[in-house]
Amino acid sequence: MNAATEQQGQQGLGETRVFNPPAAFTANAAVSGMEAYNALVAEAERDYEGFWARLARENVDWQTPFTRTLNEDNAPFYKWFEDGKLNVSYNCLDRNLTNGNADKTAIIFEADDGTVTNVTYKELHAKVCKFANGLKSLGIKKGDRVVIYMSMSVEGVAAMQACARIGATHSVVFGGFSAKSLQERIIDAGAVAVITADEQSRGGKQLPLKAIVDEALAMGGCDTIKNVVVYKRTGGNIAFTEGRDIWLSDLVDNQAAECEPEWVEAEHPLFILYTSGSTGTPKGVQHATGGYLLWAALTMKWSFDIKPSDVYWCTADIGWVTGHTYIAYGPTAVGATQVIFEGVPTFPHAGRFWETVQKHKVTIFYTAPTAIRSLIKASDADEKVHPKSFDLSSLRLLGTVGEPINPEAWMWYYRNVGREACPIVDTFWQTETGGHMITPLPGATPMVPGSCTLPLPGIMAAIVDESGADVPNGQGGILVVKRPWPSMIRTIWNNPDRFKAGYFPEELGGKYYLAGDGAIRNKDTGYFTITGRIDDVLNVSGHRMGTMEIESALVANPLVAEAAVVGKPDDTTGESICAFVVLKQARPTGEDAKRIAAELRTWVGKEIGPIAKPKEIRFGDNLPKTRSGKIMRRLLRVLAKGESITQDVSTLENPAILEQLKETA
Ligand code: WT7
Repeated sequence: MNAATEQQGQQGLGETRVFNPPAAFTANAAVSGMEAYNALVAEAERDYEGFWARLARENVDWQTPFTRTLNEDNAPFYKWFEDGKLNVSYNCLDRNLTNGNADKTAIIFEADDGTVTNVTYKELHAKVCKFANGLKSLGIKKGDRVVIYMSMSVEGVAAMQACARIGATHSVVFGGFSAKSLQERIIDAGAVAVITADEQSRGGKQLPLKAIVDEALAMGGCDTIKNVVVYKRTGGNIAFTEGRDIWLSDLVDNQAAECEPEWVEAEHPLFILYTSGSTGTPKGVQHATGGYLLWAALTMKWSFDIKPSDVYWCTADIGWVTGHTYIAYGPTAVGATQVIFEGVPTFPHAGRFWETVQKHKVTIFYTAPTAIRSLIKASDADEKVHPKSFDLSSLRLLGTVGEPINPEAWMWYYRNVGREACPIVDTFWQTETGGHMITPLPGATPMVPGSCTLPLPGIMAAIVDESGADVPNGQGGILVVKRPWPSMIRTIWNNPDRFKAGYFPEELGGKYYLAGDGAIRNKDTGYFTITGRIDDVLNVSGHRMGTMEIESALVANPLVAEAAVVGKPDDTTGESICAFVVLKQARPTGEDAKRIAAELRTWVGKEIGPIAKPKEIRFGDNLPKTRSGKIMRRLLRVLAKGESITQDVSTLENPAILEQLKETA
């Protein structure tokens, strides 16, 4: 047992507990102790390019070795390892056929209904090769874009790997996005095919996927799409368009189980993943091949201390970047055994995560703070689903990702899931960063609940003020990364100007990567604590959403004249969505307001997806505005929290409407 040691001095946000990694963990860790960490940090500082070149040679198999590590000529459009050639699928699969992993289990697939399917590296390799040959038979080739709209499945991972194998750039769209969101992404990416399933099975329910693809394609504008490949998951009834749609089994069954990988340049776009920003339209974050793979493999070793005997489980969805780096690519690149889970944490009961850890003897468990918080509530209410009711002794490392974890949830996770014997890696990163950026190293960094602690070696994270000047520890500011790193975003698909202006703003000198988060470093330890987004981006249950995106969806409804969306702190989901709406008709009250609010929620679900539905909708005759007509969002945030307004409202044009906006429909 690892006792908490009280430390003098103020931690990031007043947290004073410090937990050291267990000595036995440190002894066997990839990065063993703070001296080892500091040595890596020093190596990167001494010879930045040499550091990355060494790691890229050690962790990635190159078909053509690179000679140039970093090209900064056209900053911020950085190029890494640009004259090297490689293939990601080769690195993730073929490598494991000759290093003794061929018969090792790559994937333990735990279906929604509890059925288990094991897939070895040899089998996964054959599956991916057949899939890749099938895609080739449709005429899909290097550089083509393929949209993947799939549930959590072996086939979903195989689809990604198959694209990587033939040099096609995939864009996975989360299965919870609506037809309209899917259509917009297909059009922006100019995709030639969609890979989907008939339906998905989640929480005991069958939910449509193919029908949503049909709906998206019927909306028009998707003329680049030639084929829809359909994996039969449930056997549910679906429509088939002759000549366009093809069953996955018909596509792959007669294909050869070997497929020569397409060797691509290190900068070749491996994938595009759409994420929300502060404008109404999502942006296609484009990642490269070589640098991304390096970071996926290396962080599996550094942050997760992955060992050959581990059973690793990341509960994320392949629709998000976590499911890319820490399911589809990272674990396979290092030859790990991983659990892939189709279902939801609460089905058939809220102990499903713990039961699954027990069942597969999971050793490394990586999940989101929202899931932890909701399972705390569930196990408070029902002892049977409490982690203590399961044998979790196989666990040796825990991780969290996606949003800040509050110290109470951290402590509960540490005590009840980790039995005070497992380090917790609170990994701060983003879709744009490709992999972990700031996180404890489990065998090195003393942990402080609620702090993501220190940057990984080679990651030059810092906190600056609005002019780009460093701020001293203990003073909050803007989180930046001062030097390019291999797995960083390369551009925004179709929009290099937005990439440059948004991530390398001139105000900060044009050279620093702007993460979009505020942060503070502890006075004594230099530990980072993320204080939340500094832009109009919300984080609801770890799902990233733009307030403008939701506002645009709301005003697209014929009833709505104006809308403003803000985040409100929420005990379980981190933040919740609160929408202030002005209708074209008179302000509704009572039952009328309830009915219209329900209508608008359904509407947003159709425009974006169920995750974007506002939890609260409040109607006003108007919104609080300055005399020049600017919506005063800071007042809306105060109102959303249910607090009374103490700020100066003298610039407010119409103070009377503040009263109306206190009331939730
Ligand atoms: C945003 C990125 C990281 C992959 C999944 C989400 C927030 C993420 C943490 C953390 C505090 C965190 C940030 C970030 N975030 N991890 N450990 N502590 N905040 O990726 O959808 O691109 O969202 O999630 O606000 O900017 P994403």
